[in-house]
Amino acid sequence: MENQELKKRLSRIKNLPTLPIVASNVIKLTQNPDSTAFEIAEAISKDQSLATKVLKTANSAYYGFPRQITTVNYAIVVLGLNNIKNIVLSTSIIQRFSKSDENALFDRNDFWKHSLLCGIISKKISEHIGITNSEEMFMCGLLHDFGKLILDSFFHDEFIMALQLSKEKNITISQAENDIFGFDHSGVGALLLGKWSLPPSLVKAVEFHHSPIESLNAFRTASIVHVADYLCRRIGIGSGGDNIMPVLNKKAFELVDLSSNQIKQMSLQITKEFKKATEFLDEGEEDK
Ligand SMILES: [Fe+2]
Ligand SMILES: [Fe+2]
Repeated sequence: MENQELKKRLSRIKNLPTLPIVASNVIKLTQNPDSTAFEIAEAISKDQSLATKVLKTANSAYYGFPRQITTVNYAIVVLGLNNIKNIVLSTSIIQRFSKSDENALFDRNDFWKHSLLCGIISKKISEHIGITNSEEMFMCGLLHDFGKLILDSFFHDEFIMALQLSKEKNITISQAENDIFGFDHSGVGALLLGKWSLPPSLVKAVEFHHSPIESLNAFRTASIVHVADYLCRRIGIGSGGDNIMPVLNKKAFELVDLSSNQIKQMSLQITKEFKKATEFLDEGEEDK
């Protein structure tokens, strides 16, 4: 999905957000097989508020570890590197993008609830079809609509026009964005996450979450996020800015291999898990 217009417009933004340095160091360290848990713990501890948040999330009911986790080093040992990487990345990004200018049409709280739910469902579907790196699928779901935050922050007026258009015409935000910008949030998100050196498989899943069929080698991951995004609206927690059911891609739905009975059961479980996972969504906004 090479979109020159999108590239041009993003390249004109002078202060495109960067991934917080500590998070970026942690990502690098986790990609290096020689890194030790101690080195990673040390990198996280350079940012005390991040370290505190990592511990809070590691102790949340979502992970359900029976004993209190009191140090980052111990958190890495018991939850594993992939989970800790996810906590660091999601915490850094959510903290950074939790506040916004006034935008009555786009509530960031609801946005993050939608994103978190999509992460949880993506992980659940991956487990259901036997994907081994289901933690990465959590991040794909969590970040699938990330581009909306960039549009809201840097192309605010046009983004509001797109939100209005979506309401007036009863079309998805993605369709409205395409009408207004000539591209939509999936490409914007993928471009920025790619710049942050996040794994290419994650970037592709974000890029093709509306149209998994167009992705070449990321059909599986894009399909999972696509179906998860659809199920989020059915469950009705949070909002990505519109409440229109997108068209569910048949092939993607076949791939996730869920019967309607399984969907019902999964939805109940997921609603419970979502409540346990709210530690991800920083309640402690009072500190910054
Ligand atoms: Fe989307
Ligand atoms: Fe979404």
